[in-house]
Order: sequence, then C-alpha cells, then structure tokens
Amino acid sequence: MKYSALKGVQDILPPDIYIWQKIEKVARDIFHFYGFQEIRLPIIESTDVFIRSIGETTDIVEKEMYTFFDKAGRSITMRPEGTAPAVRCYVEHHLYNLPSPQKFYYFGPMFRYERPQRGRFRQFYQIGVEAFGVSQTLLDVEIILMLRNLLEGVGLKEVNFELNSIGCQKCRPVYKNSLLKFFENKISDFCPDCQRRYNTNPLRILDCKVERCVEARQGSPVVIDYLCEECKTHFDELIFRLNALKVTYKLNPSLVRGLDYYTRTTFEVTSEHLGAQKAVAAGGRYDNLVEEFGGPKTPAIGFAIGMERVTALLKEIWADKYPLPRVFIATLGKEAEIEGLQIAESIREAGFWVEPNYNGEASLKSQLRKADRMGAEIVFIIGENELMSGRVQWKNLMNGEHGEVDKKDILRFLGYK
Ligand code: HAM
Repeated sequence: MKYSALKGVQDILPPDIYIWQKIEKVARDIFHFYGFQEIRLPIIESTDVFIRSIGETTDIVEKEMYTFFDKAGRSITMRPEGTAPAVRCYVEHHLYNLPSPQKFYYFGPMFRYERPQRGRFRQFYQIGVEAFGVSQTLLDVEIILMLRNLLEGVGLKEVNFELNSIGCQKCRPVYKNSLLKFFENKISDFCPDCQRRYNTNPLRILDCKVERCVEARQGSPVVIDYLCEECKTHFDELIFRLNALKVTYKLNPSLVRGLDYYTRTTFEVTSEHLGAQKAVAAGGRYDNLVEEFGGPKTPAIGFAIGMERVTALLKEIWADKYPLPRVFIATLGKEAEIEGLQIAESIREAGFWVEPNYNGEASLKSQLRKADRMGAEIVFIIGENELMSGRVQWKNLMNGEHGEVDKKDILRFLGYK
C-alpha cells in the first residue's frame, strides 16, 4: 500500500520550515509593537458562522467549503478563513466590553476546496489580524503600515499595494443597480457562473477570472464613483494620510474582494513573481459584521497573509540562510561515545547546535563525510588517545584547518564567552 498526501495539501519540511518560522517570528515581533495580541481559534466551526458572513453566493460558500455532519448531526465546517471565526469569538466573549480597539492576530491552516494549482492549495496557512472598535482612517493607515513593515521585514520586495473602497450598505445598492444596468445586454457573454451571479450577486462578476467575463466587463462602472458622502470622505482621508506618510499604493477600482462582508477600505498585496495566484495578502474593513453576529455596532478591519505564497517568494532570498549544525562530534570506540556525548551536552548548553555520531563503529572517514553533508562547521574528533590526553582534535570543514584543543577550552575555542 502506498500513501501520499491528499491533492492540494502539502507537507512542510526542512529547510522550508525555517522560512515559515522566520516569517512567524518577524510577524509576532511586529504585531507586538502595534499592540496586537495572539488568539487561537478553533479549526472547526458551526457552518452558520461562515454562510451569511462570507456570503451565500460567494465561491467560498457555494463551492469550496469542507462541510460535514458530526456524529450528532450538526453541520460543521473546517474554516475557509479566519475573520468570521474571530468575529464569532469577539461577540461570544463580549470582548466589546474591553477598551477599544481590541487587536488580535492568529496563525493557522484554512481549508478551501479549490482547484489546486501553483500557489493555490486546499489546506493553506494564513497569518491574519483583526482590529475591532475604530472607524477612523488612522487605524486603516496603521494596519496598512503594519502589513508593509511585515512584508519588508521578512525581505519581500517588489510587491504592489492595491487599494479601493467598496462603500457601505447605503451606497452599495446604488452601485449594484448601475452594474446591473451596464451588464443587462451582455448577460449572454458571461460564463454560466456569472450569468447566475447577475441575479444573485453581480459584484462577484467583477472578480471572475474567466477570459470572456474579463472582456465583457470592460468599461463597467467603478464603485468609487458611487460612494456616498461619508464613504467618500473616509476614502479621501485615507488616501490623504497614506500620501502624507509616503506609502506607495495603486488605486484599483475593480478590487471588490471575494468575500461579502467588506465595507469601505479594501486592499490586496500582489506580486508579479507568483503566476496566476498573485495575491500575497489581502484585507479590508467589515464594519457591519460584529452587529450581524449579534454584537453591538462595531467597526473592524483586518488582513490575512498567504504563507505559501510569501514563502514561495522568499525561497531564493533565503536559500543560503538555513541554520546548520555548528559542531559535529566524531567518536571512535564505545568509551569515546560517552565522552563525546558529555562534550556535546556542554556545547549545547552554551547555545550551539551539535550533532553527535551515533555509531562509534563507523570509520572516521565516513563520519567526516557525514559531518560535511550535514553542513557542520567544526568537527571534534574523540578517540582513545584523546580520552587519555584530555585534548581533542578539531577540524574546520569550512577552510580545512585542523589542530588540537584542551577539552576544558572547547567553549572558548568556539568563541563562547
Ligand atoms: P482572502 O483574500 O480570501 O482573505 O485570503 C487572504 C490570502 O490568503 C490571499 O491573499 C492568499 O495569499 C491566501 N490564500 C487564499 N486562498 C488560498 C489558497 N487556496 N491557497 C493558498 N493561499 C490562499 C481572507 O481570507 C480574509 N479573511 C482576510 C481578512 C482578514 N480580511 C479582513 N481580515
């Protein structure tokens, strides 16, 4: 019997895992400075958590959710994203009673039954943030700055920051009507999905990737022209503030996002180096969602970064930065093995990665070859003579130098003070 991972899911192994850890570390540090605290949310939720919030007529809810019935017959869904669960949690624990804003972050896997392709998985990981309780654009600016700092902090360059506003419940229906009017005579040009969307959710036509739909929607009305006074003031102020801080962005009037809960500010970070799945991170405001979950009216904003896509972009930059063992201990004979283990322990205590030889019967040559393949920098060699003399031989695998050092001087030799 041969097993392999399911289609669209993958194992994350060394050395790639070091990129993941690096991103997580940079993210944690940056979030801390901006006052975001970690929350750990369940991977499974009641299906209702997602249906209305993400939108009944979105691709995610219509086609992509991993939904099953548990043994008690409840409908359960493996989270396709983190915002709806975060809002569920915020309302369930009455976190709106705490001082505003409440700012959270989470790491973890999300599940969407999409067609797997480069950069698109069925289990993928996000780093997400959600901030509750502030409607002013200063929070939008801060969130955008934080995302920019994070991506720069991990070494990501050449990304585009795309920005839009998609209005609110007041102005969106007006925009929707103008879209319906514009598409009225083009319905037959659209793919079957978009023909359906025309009646269920015309905004979704704007992010359909099918070629004929992209063509048919050329010249369609843009949402910014339909913003109500309040949404327009909000967007103008956001742009003014981003400009004042010299943040680079590009206005993208067709950026409507694939989830229905957004209001006003929406943004997406894209890279040209990723192929068809360009979005590295995306987010926006969702000022009505807390209320829809039964909480008090609470504005909110957040974003999520796609880990697989960021790591794909960082792979080249990181190629020579993976941690390697500093020291390999080669031992010859049973007694030397114990001595080697003791030396290894003292070096580890000083904070170095040490790999011992696990087979004292292996030849010195094969042990040195193994140390070299592992990428170790220094090998200490312990044989019978060394046991007697209290000195050990060393070899620097980087430059070929070698010599002898007193056992008690090993840490000093390694540069440990
Ligand atoms: P999203 O745009 O659906 O937004 O996903 C955010 C990011 O997750 C995408 O930009 C992409 O990098 C990554 N991603 C999405 N689907 C996949 C996939 N199938 N395979 C690999 N990566 C993927 C959200 O999920 C919102 N909850 C973001 C948010 C938080 N908005 C407000 N707060």
